Amino acid sequence: MPKSISLTRYLIEQQRADGLIPGQLRLLLEVVARACKGISQAVNKGALGNVLGSAESENVQGEVQKKLDIIANEVLIEANEWGGHLAAMASEEMDSIYVVPNRYPQGEYLLLFDPLDGSSNIDVNVSIGTIFSVLKKPEGSPGVQEADFLQAGSKQVAAGYCIYGPQTTLVLTVGNGVAMFTLDREQGSFMLTQEDIQIPADTKEFAVNMSNMRHWDAPVKRYIDECLAGKDGPRGKDFNMRWIASMVADVHRILMRGGVFLYPWDKREPEKAGKLRLMYEANPMSWLVEQAGGAATNGRQRILDLEPGKLHERVAVVLGSRNEVERLTGYHEPL
Ligand code: AHG
Ligand code: MN
Ligand code: MN
Ligand code: MN
Repeated sequence: MPKSISLTRYLIEQQRADGLIPGQLRLLLEVVARACKGISQAVNKGALGNVLGSAESENVQGEVQKKLDIIANEVLIEANEWGGHLAAMASEEMDSIYVVPNRYPQGEYLLLFDPLDGSSNIDVNVSIGTIFSVLKKPEGSPGVQEADFLQAGSKQVAAGYCIYGPQTTLVLTVGNGVAMFTLDREQGSFMLTQEDIQIPADTKEFAVNMSNMRHWDAPVKRYIDECLAGKDGPRGKDFNMRWIASMVADVHRILMRGGVFLYPWDKREPEKAGKLRLMYEANPMSWLVEQAGGAATNGRQRILDLEPGKLHERVAVVLGSRNEVERLTGYHEPL
């Protein structure tokens, strides 16, 4: 890999090579990256910037919002509303869609985001992130409405996340593999640091919140029991466990060294869905994982094939190393 390829250069070269990134989409991705730099700065200031702690408000899903949930949401909206590349945005932190105001030109893309993933880790200085997904507004529909967003994950034209950890790292796909960019703080730009990321098909590491075990369905319990049984059990090998409780950080580890991530059904959930949101978390992460050679299902079906019924829909998630995802999916009764 030649040295010093900035995100800008990478996107321009991709645009030239295979046309996967039209001009408006390139602008969109640059703007999202710029917004992530702003969020990264706020995260880094922490207590000095008065950005920690609760905002005392609730989002549409009944979660208490942290100050940074709201700050990150505002940074993304302000960065993206005026450029002419978007028709509307949707976010975990907004009840309904945000249509680009009339005073700005309307573009053809829809941007969805989890502005701040891992909210419970903000105040304890553990890695958090921003997750985003880009769709095209369906052709021929006048204006823009919520229904325009309800497209299967397989329709995404770009997806990625930015993780605010020891380094700030942007991970991106436009359907042509997964590339990683590390923020060079002196230069102020994201620089390409890894291309064609691949998740090994096998792993000895799983990530799940074990405290929920008593609420899981039998196939998930069986899978984890077998992992825990170690080399004397049916799997014949010892497994390690990691749970950061920021999906960005858990998925980032899986992209870097393999593993399987689960946020399964939970009998406490009325709709028997999981905790994670299909449109802002599961779809973008599933596409990244598939683009890196992994797999992602809700236990039965490929996540990217699910037709969303509503914007804030939740879904069970199993993603990561292909053979593990297929094994656990196989433990479920076919539909
Ligand atoms: P968010 O902070 O955007 O609401 O998402 C939190 C999610 C996800 O990042 C993580 O995998 C999961 O919640 C952790 O849940 P538990 O606290 O139940 O472990
Ligand atoms: Mn939340
Ligand atoms: Mn999240
Ligand atoms: Mn969030």
